[in-house]
Amino acid sequence: MKGNTLQRLQDRVAVITGGGSGIGKASAVRLAAEGARVVVVDVDAATGKAVADAVNGEFAQVDITNEDGIRGLFDDVVERHGRLDIVFNNAGISPPDDDSILTTGIDAWRRVQEVNLTSVFLGCKYAIPHMQRQGKGSIINTASFVALMGAATSQISYTASKGGVLAMSRELGVQFAREGIRVNALCPGPVNTPLLQELFAKDPERAARRLVHIPLGRFAEPEEIAAAVAFLASDDSSFITASQFLVDGGLTGAYVTPL
Ligand SMILES: NC(=O)c1ccc[n+]([C@@H]2O[C@H](COP(=O)([O-])OP(=O)(O)OC[C@H]3O[C@@H](n4cnc5c(N)ncnc54)[C@H](O)[C@@H]3O)[C@@H](O)[C@H]2O)c1
Repeated sequence: MKGNTLQRLQDRVAVITGGGSGIGKASAVRLAAEGARVVVVDVDAATGKAVADAVNGEFAQVDITNEDGIRGLFDDVVERHGRLDIVFNNAGISPPDDDSILTTGIDAWRRVQEVNLTSVFLGCKYAIPHMQRQGKGSIINTASFVALMGAATSQISYTASKGGVLAMSRELGVQFAREGIRVNALCPGPVNTPLLQELFAKDPERAARRLVHIPLGRFAEPEEIAAAVAFLASDDSSFITASQFLVDGGLTGAYVTPL
């Protein structure tokens, strides 16, 4: 223990996509606090670099939909650090033009599939060979509770993309289990992000409609998701692979919630 923080990731090399904001940012802070050497990946250079600096890590400006970019990123990390222990494929988008199937255009559908699902395909495809050489590695892919339950407030491509992340992670977890590589799908419930706060401050009814379903009666803090990421990244989760790892305040288990 260093201060109050466990040191489960001493000198492990961790790549976090979408590390400039939200869950990715909180995870960069948590993994670094547990001793990892963190590479923050983001399209947004300003926020990504600020997080990397704050955690004494490195920043790489890569668009995760770019195949050459992702391949080069992992090759470069391994060349410089000699290893790749943890990959958190986390970056994702939920744009407003991804809505009901009746109004969502094919371009919005494709863009969300590219950023949320194809990027995870690439992030696994080019990380796994490095981990195979080491005989060890932990990959965590961000899905969502919407991969497990339906919403009448649809974001159709987003939901489909997260279902894809869940199924792909399960398959990879099974395929590479005996090579020491664990792959898990992290399924957060709704998280208290600035975007969500802004949306719900304008529309309290919209917030209430969602909050009523969560037994814990609140949204998650990014740090609570990051704690699960650190667990899945560490050897404490050595018998956990191919899982749908829920961190959802009880949402998916609930029928009637407390008053
Ligand atoms: N916030 C929630 O309530 C919630 C709930 C469940 C799942 N998730 C998922 O968790 C993940 C992180 O969500 P968040 O709320 O922290 O998001 P966020 O918007 O705060 O951060 C996402 C980051 O990804 C980066 N990014 C976007 N497109 C990129 C690209 N093409 N290449 C590289 N970087 C890119 C953005 O610049 C941003 O820094 C997403 O996959 C999201 O779908 C979020």
